Amino acid sequence: MSVLTQSIPGAAAGLRALAVAAAVLSCAAGAPAQNVAPLRSVQSFDSIANTQERSRALFVEAGRVIQSPRCLNCHPTGDRPFQGQGTELRLHVPNVTRGKDGKGAPALRCTSCHQAKNNDASGVPGHPMWHLAPLEMGWVGVSLGGICEQIKDPKRNGKRSLAQIHEHMTHDPLVGWGWLPGAHREPAPGTQAEFGALIDAWIKTGAVCPG
Ligand code: HEC
Ligand code: HEC
Repeated sequence: MSVLTQSIPGAAAGLRALAVAAAVLSCAAGAPAQNVAPLRSVQSFDSIANTQERSRALFVEAGRVIQSPRCLNCHPTGDRPFQGQGTELRLHVPNVTRGKDGKGAPALRCTSCHQAKNNDASGVPGHPMWHLAPLEMGWVGVSLGGICEQIKDPKRNGKRSLAQIHEHMTHDPLVGWGWLPGAHREPAPGTQAEFGALIDAWIKTGAVCPG
């Protein structure tokens, strides 16, 4: 870059202007990833002596991930996903619907636009398993307590045991996309491992749901 700016007078100022424009754009898109507080550690809840209360508090902290836009956008309570770089939760444009398999209507499949990897040039997120969470796993507009009951309910959680829920939260790659969302998206708080540790501690304390 120094060679470039020395050989082209005015290039440095031009680059600075570009950088400012880019900063303004990324603010407008709402991507202050560095402003998101990290997840609290499991140990930091040890001071809550009452086990039920501790369990509830652990889930509330994990709820900061679960209710982040990176998860909610794909867990709607209707047939249409949401979008948004930050926390705005706008309905997906164009109007796409889940279809029979969560992968879109026959005429407009998710894979028409969503590829196996994030496309940072176009801003379209991607993953090989990209599809909508089933209706019974919808979280948008549901209270955290309601989401908690859904996650525990084998009739609505894909017949999973609590151990399998922990496994899914900690290792599922589509869940993991929430921390590697590409473009200017704000990642889910903390790390997937820290999130998994909170879920594990929540289960070990009786998986109590917030009221
Ligand atoms: C015509 C192209 C197109 C189709 C088809 C499409 N999408 Fe998208 N989708 C996009 C674009 C573009 C974005 C990025 C918009 C943005 O972040 O501002 C996006 C973003 C999203 C997001 C937001 C991710 C996030 O957290 O930022 C979700 C969720 C999503 N799509 C789900 C789906 C699902 C599920 C399907 C199939 C049912 C689908 N999309 C079909 C173009 C499409
Ligand atoms: C691209 C869409 C997409 C994104 C993004 C996404 N999910 Fe999901 N999620 C799904 C689909 C599809 C299923 C159903 C898969 C299955 O049952 O095997 C699912 C199922 C789940 C389940 C299992 C059962 C239940 O009770 O809900 C959990 C837990 C879950 N997701 C957590 C998360 C978390 C946490 C995030 C964010 C860090 C997230 N998901 C982001 C699509 C998504």
